[in-house]
Order: sequence, then structure tokens, then C-alpha cells
Amino acid sequence: EKGGYDYFMLKEIDEQPRAVAETLLGRLNDAGQIVLDEVRLTDQDLRDVDKIFIVACGTAYHAGLVTKYAIEHWTRIPCEVELASEFRYRDPVLDRSTLVVAISQSGETMDTLMALRHAKEQKARVLAVCNTNGSTIPRESDAVLYTHGGPEIAVASTKAFLTQLTACYLVGLHLAQVRGVMFADEVAAVVERLQRTPDQLTALLAEMGPVRQLANDLRDASTVLFIGRHVGYPVALEGALKLKELAYMHAEGFAAGELKHGSIALIDQGTPVVCVVPSPVGRGVLHDKVVSNIQEVRARGARTIVIAEEGDEAVAAYADHLIRVPRTPTLLAPLMTTVPLQVLACGIAAARGNDVDQPRNLAKSVTVE
Ligand code: F6R
Repeated sequence: EKGGYDYFMLKEIDEQPRAVAETLLGRLNDAGQIVLDEVRLTDQDLRDVDKIFIVACGTAYHAGLVTKYAIEHWTRIPCEVELASEFRYRDPVLDRSTLVVAISQSGETMDTLMALRHAKEQKARVLAVCNTNGSTIPRESDAVLYTHGGPEIAVASTKAFLTQLTACYLVGLHLAQVRGVMFADEVAAVVERLQRTPDQLTALLAEMGPVRQLANDLRDASTVLFIGRHVGYPVALEGALKLKELAYMHAEGFAAGELKHGSIALIDQGTPVVCVVPSPVGRGVLHDKVVSNIQEVRARGARTIVIAEEGDEAVAAYADHLIRVPRTPTLLAPLMTTVPLQVLACGIAAARGNDVDQPRNLAKSVTVE
């Protein structure tokens, strides 16, 4: 069943090009409009939305954090992302013109389901992004966009994350189009870049040998830190989560600019710091800020593992290990930059002799609050 792989996780990491491609399949109609699966909301309902909340847990929450950057940029609708387990206890301000997006691979996560039910009681509209046909979360939602990732067996989410990102980008583009903030040709241009990502992922996955080697080197590290900015920040959080759950190591993700406000004190001689670098193209300021953050940690002894785009020459001087990813528009970069972090966590866990597919204390679907 593992198709020649040692672990389902490795198989699922390699399935990501196809999973993303299938999630994109058939989403553009002849008029160049994005088609969602089950939308029991009118275009007018979507035009009336004046606030978006994304609710999710764990890896799906990280997909939500990336989505916030895309949705606000494309639609100009204010968008908040909240851990589903915190949402209803905060008594959030919701009404008919609020759209709540619930992201869940399983469609059965109790925290996310309870957040959704709370949103519905407050008359908000709910859109689910889900991988499991007919599960509870999509059944109780007003609209659904399915991720076509296929079954995910390994407890640690990999292809689910990439397909959640893909589907959420489509949601953002659909909203932007319906509301008239993006024209069909602008949407098509982003979709075209999305459609290139499966081939780019295939190329990236073929280059993961050095990452597996690095994983072996890092097996005895006592802590690994991850830093990123903008959409690279949730990628840093996701890289740290994968490492915690699989390798049982202390790992933490930080917004690169926040490090100097306290956490940089953690860095000691040889502390591994994984740095997710934004594209130097288009948003050079963002890129340069991260490069100076890398210099800061290196000056304090960090061993830097730098994830940077092909052609980004400026970072090489500050990288103890340099991992290249294919070039994408800034907002789509998490589809690439996450992959080496998955491979790294999987490799470290395997090197430590852990059960990669069934980490201790975890279940695939968390059906208690
Ligand atoms: C991490 C992981 C979990 C899930 C979370 C939500 O690798 O798998 O953090 O992402 O429990 O699960 P779903 O998406 O099924 O709601």
C-alpha cells in the first residue's frame, strides 16, 4: 500500500504535485470564472460580505494564516484567522455579512465544527474547505470547496496542507472576481501561475537529497528555530509543527522581525535556524528584511538553513545550508517553501527511529474538544 515507500508520509509528500493539480482541475469555466463545488450562496451574498473569519486547527490553521495574506490582498475584505478552539469562547462579532471559512482535511475536527456551529447561530455564512466528501463540516456549511488530495493516511498533514492552500487561493480569487475587484484576465493570470506549480513541485521533489542528508545531521539538535516574514511566517510555524509532532524535538516558528523582541536570546553557538526567504522579485523590501534577520541570527552563532528562490544570489553568503525552491509569485510561495520543511521533519523523525506515520500521542482526526 505504501507503493515502495518506507512511510505513507513520504508517499504523500511525493503525491503533492498530483494533489495540487487535481484540486485545480476544472475550476475555470469558459468565461474564465472560478467554479466552486457546492455553493448555496448567491453572488449577491458574496458581494455583501464585509468581514471574513478563517477558523481551523493545526496545519489547517497555518493554511488559514497564508490565506489571510492572499484574501486581503486580492479582495480588500478584512480577514482574521482564528484557532477554532478559541473562536466561540471569545464571543466574536458575527452577522449575516460575515463569511466564516472553515478549513479541515477530515471534516470531522470537533473544534472546527463547534466554531462553525457558533458562526451559524450568529447568522454568519459558512464556507468549508475540506478533503472528505460528505463529512460533517461540509454538510453543515453553506458552501464547499473540496480539496482533491485523496486520502491522507500519515497522521502528519502534508498534501492536505498544499491542497488547502490551493483551494483557499481559489476562494480568494473567486471572491475578488464576484466583487469586481479583479478582472477575469487578472484572475486567469494567477490561475496560470497556480497551474504551473505541480510541475514545479515535481522538480523540487527531485532535489530533496541534500535535505535528507541534513536531516541526518540535525537528529541530535536540542532545538530548531524557524523564521519567516509575510506568507513565510506561517510556513515557519508549519515547519516547526511538523518537527515537533514527528521528531519530538523542541521547535518554534517566529515572525522574522519579532525575533529581536526577545526570542533571539535562545540562539546559541550552532543553534539550527531555518530561514524562509521571500522572493527578491517584486517585493524586494520584504526579501532584504529577511536577509538582515538572517545576518542577525548568524552573528549570534546560528547555523542557518536557508530556503530561497532559484536565482536569489544575495542569500548565499549567509547560508550554512542553502535549499533552492522554484520561483513563484510571493503569495504562492508557501506551495514550494513548505516542501523541504516536510522532508526535513520526516527525515529527522526517521533518523531518530520514531514512528513517522503514527507519532506518539496523536490521532489523525481529533473528534473531541
Ligand atoms: C498536523 C495535523 C493537525 C491537523 C489538525 C486539523 O500535521 O495533521 O494539526 O491539521 O488536527 O485537522 P483537520 O484538517 O482534519 O481539521
